[in-house]
Amino acid sequence: MDLQISGRKALVLGASSGLGRGVAEALAAEGVHIVLAARASDRLTDAATAIASQHGVQTVTLPVDLSDSASVEEFVQAIRTQHPDISILVNNTGGPSPSGVEGISGHTWKQQFETMVLSLFRITDAVLPGMKERRWGRILTIASAVVVEPNIRLGVSVTLRSALAGWSKTLATEVAPHGVTVNMLLPGHITTDRTHFLAEAEARKTGKTQEAVQEEKARNIPVGRYGTVEEFGATAAFLTSTAAAYITGSMIRVDGGALKSI
Ligand SMILES: NC(=O)c1ccc[n+]([C@@H]2O[C@H](COP(=O)([O-])OP(=O)(O)OC[C@H]3O[C@@H](n4cnc5c(N)ncnc54)[C@H](OP(=O)(O)O)[C@@H]3O)[C@@H](O)[C@H]2O)c1
Repeated sequence: MDLQISGRKALVLGASSGLGRGVAEALAAEGVHIVLAARASDRLTDAATAIASQHGVQTVTLPVDLSDSASVEEFVQAIRTQHPDISILVNNTGGPSPSGVEGISGHTWKQQFETMVLSLFRITDAVLPGMKERRWGRILTIASAVVVEPNIRLGVSVTLRSALAGWSKTLATEVAPHGVTVNMLLPGHITTDRTHFLAEAEARKTGKTQEAVQEEKARNIPVGRYGTVEEFGATAAFLTSTAAAYITGSMIRVDGGALKSI
């Protein structure tokens, strides 16, 4: 299937590894030029070089620290001036440390809100005028299955991503008349550095091995295994396609059937 996005330009946040890298690869395979963003410039450069040489698209790196409002402001200015032609935005951030919600300090809430939520509002607002002018745009926000089924060990993620869900749905309604779709992707367990980190943290807490923790989780997934970044990237690429123009305001699960609700 031709996704009809060849030659467009995408901005992918958290593009140096994991889900963001998987989405960047899948879009590049469709001929999309990619602006890759994250903190560590060496990993970003490695990803950009590999993607450009494998898929023959143009790649540019634009480092940003989403936890630092000054860095985000500078990034937003660079997007406005150097990349006014972004047609696809993939909102993606690092995840918070595992915790509940009781007793989380105001400082932590504020900082995580700035990192995981406010930075995405600012960046989205920077790319929307160009999308509306061209009457074509795709905003995809990577959240988590915990938005549907809260996980008490990931309380900050549940809380802040629920805020993103409300924002994403509202924005979808606002910009739909301008040819811009806005959707969320809800990953369950997709193998990345972060899933290893979380399994390691749980293993330390429970005295199990990391492998045992991951095997136990996989047994509770109907498909029987963790997903791959390629599978995740393929779903994202479809949602950015011209064929997906009628899908907006949705939350798409990529979880191997793990969520129990309809
Ligand atoms: N993998 C899953 O199954 C899963 C499930 C549910 C939710 N999620 C969520 O999806 C998101 C991506 O997950 P992942 O598994 O791909 O994680 P990952 O492998 O740890 O990748 C995170 C990416 O974000 C970048 N990043 C981290 N902190 C940043 C910051 N302050 N500013 C800018 N970039 C930053 C990282 O690069 P630098 O470190 O160089 O900045 C990296 O490129 C996370 O929020 C995670 O909680 C993932």
